[in-house]
Amino acid sequence: MTVHLVGAGPGDPGLLTVRALELLRRADVVVYDRLSQESLLDLAPAAERIDVGKAPGHVRLAQSEINDLLIERGRRGETVVRLKGGDPFVFARGGEEAAALRDARVPFEVVPGITSAIAVPAYAGIPVTLRHSSTSVTIVTGHEEPGVDGAEGTVDWQAVARVGGTIVVLMGVRSLPRIVAELVVHGRSPATPVALIRWGTTDAQETVIGTLADIVARAARARLEPPVLAVIGEVVRLREKLEWFETRGQSLEAALVEAR
Ligand SMILES: C[S@@+](CC[C@H](N)C(=O)[O-])C[C@H]1O[C@@H](n2cnc3c(N)ncnc32)[C@H](O)[C@@H]1O
Repeated sequence: MTVHLVGAGPGDPGLLTVRALELLRRADVVVYDRLSQESLLDLAPAAERIDVGKAPGHVRLAQSEINDLLIERGRRGETVVRLKGGDPFVFARGGEEAAALRDARVPFEVVPGITSAIAVPAYAGIPVTLRHSSTSVTIVTGHEEPGVDGAEGTVDWQAVARVGGTIVVLMGVRSLPRIVAELVVHGRSPATPVALIRWGTTDAQETVIGTLADIVARAARARLEPPVLAVIGEVVRLREKLEWFETRGQSLEAALVEAR
């Protein structure tokens, strides 16, 4: 009896790990959230599927109920896969689930996944670090209304602004105006480039580029809805040269024309 806390990667099924695939294939039950791609569930054809995410029209299970479910299924001796978007320990409450399993003496395994924080910028042609100029990356939650259920806690935006380097904000599209204001007040230049990437690594990927000065207006015009990730910093400029995924069909066509 083991509960496997498994990272599903950022969306592209090709970014699933070999270990995750192995476990999905022999799972008795898969417990998943809304962000997981439906096609990943097809990799576990024999498994019972339990959706604990916020599917429209359904009530999301409380974290304590999810913990109880994992404990109960683990105790039954089933192979339980708890599938989470990206990496299970990056803003995914995997740590809380592991702690609950440990307290209940149910064995668990953690299967890290490719986090959207690195992979989604990469699919938008943005490396999160760059030798000499962007030597750190801060991954931060934008979902941090103190006291509001589901929030991740409080962020010291002054410290985030001052540390320099690249800032990757998860769950930040709704609080973008507040985040942008905080960063500018605490010293980031309004000219700092920003990329907002929605449904990164999937066929639905779309990217909005701007600066701290105009990204709020651009995001409103594009009517961006979650899941969106923001990349803030000089590295965003590299997209102009390195963009490869959204134009991959065109690049192939251009290469074929050139080869003729
Ligand atoms: C609850 S967090 C989970 C993060 C996940 N554990 C990870 O490592 O990627 C969900 C947030 O991750 C970001 N995210 C996850 N997948 C994404 C994707 N394919 N494209 C853009 N943002 C994504 C969004 O900011 C979204 O609101």
